[in-house]
Order: sequence, then structure tokens, then C-alpha cells
Amino acid sequence: MTTTSNNKKLGELLDSLRNSDKIRVLFVCLGNICRSPAADGIMHAVVERHGAETRWEIDSAATGGWHVGDLPDERMRAHGRRRGYDFRHVCRQVRTSDFDNYDLIIGMDDNNVSNLRRMAPTLEDTAKVVPMATFLDSRHYYAVPDPYYEGAEGFELVLDLLEQGCETLYNRLS
Ligand code: 4NP
Repeated sequence: MTTTSNNKKLGELLDSLRNSDKIRVLFVCLGNICRSPAADGIMHAVVERHGAETRWEIDSAATGGWHVGDLPDERMRAHGRRRGYDFRHVCRQVRTSDFDNYDLIIGMDDNNVSNLRRMAPTLEDTAKVVPMATFLDSRHYYAVPDPYYEGAEGFELVLDLLEQGCETLYNRLS
């Protein structure tokens, strides 16, 4: 599929969600202990700040199964706490039923996006899979980079990108 037709499909999807009573979003990364639980917690905070909790359903999940049942990585929790977040999502893996239960499935990087597109049961479901970079203004970032093997700057960068991306996602659907 071409970039133009992908953009058109995404535009149509966002238009239809803008008019919908309920918006169901699943954030996905490799381990579901760093980026996606942070995106989940930040999106909950954005939605709460706008008083829109009843309209939004938000969750997160992993493409990999190594950390199922774990709380987020302690480094991510500590960096989050410094900004007023309390990330306590319990890791789970993506399941096929997620493609029925969510309108938008947002992958943090290209690997997550291609894994999710491979898992999608139907073509319609494939169109629900969107890179988080779609909602990043920064021209320097085409993904939310994996911080797992990085230092403190890696975690801070993830939080900067997610705070900006979640606000943009909210605004594009309001
Ligand atoms: P995440 O980070 O995908 O942002 O949760 C990672 C967490 C764990 C691993 C890799 C990335 N891991 O290899 O265990």
C-alpha cells in the first residue's frame, strides 16, 4: 500500500473516531514495561485533565512475553514519579481479541507496528495499527526509542515524546 493511501485510511479512521461516543486505544511496545505502560498512564492523565474519562478506554500490551505479570520497569516508574505519574500497569501480551476490542492500536516503533500488522486477523484490523510517531511533532523522531538498554536520558526522552504525542492524539480526536 502507498504512503498516500495509508495516510488517507488513517485520516478516515481518525475522522470516524472523532465522531464516536467511545474511543478505545491500546498502546503497544516490545516488553510492556517501559514505553507502552508509560503511554497508557500519560494518556489516562491527559484524558482525566480534560474530564473525558467516560469517552476513552485505554490499555497497553507487549508483543513479547518475557515480562507478563510484571509492574513497569523501576527506572520508568522512578522517572514517571518525578513528573507526577504513578505507572502501575501489569504487563500483558497482545491477544487476537484486542483487534476487536480496540479502535486504535498504537505501536511505539516500526518493529512493534510490523509485528502488530502481521497479527491482525483482517485487513480492516490492519488499518487500526498506527505508529506513535504519527502523533509526534518532532521532525527528529520517527519512533519512540526503546530505553531498556539506555541511561536516564533515554527514559526522559521517552516521557518527553509521550507527553507530547498523547496530547496531540487527544486533540486530534476531540
Ligand atoms: P519496552 O522496553 O518495549 O519499552 O517495554 C523493553 C523492555 C524489556 C525488553 C526490551 C525492551 N527486554 O528485552 O526484556
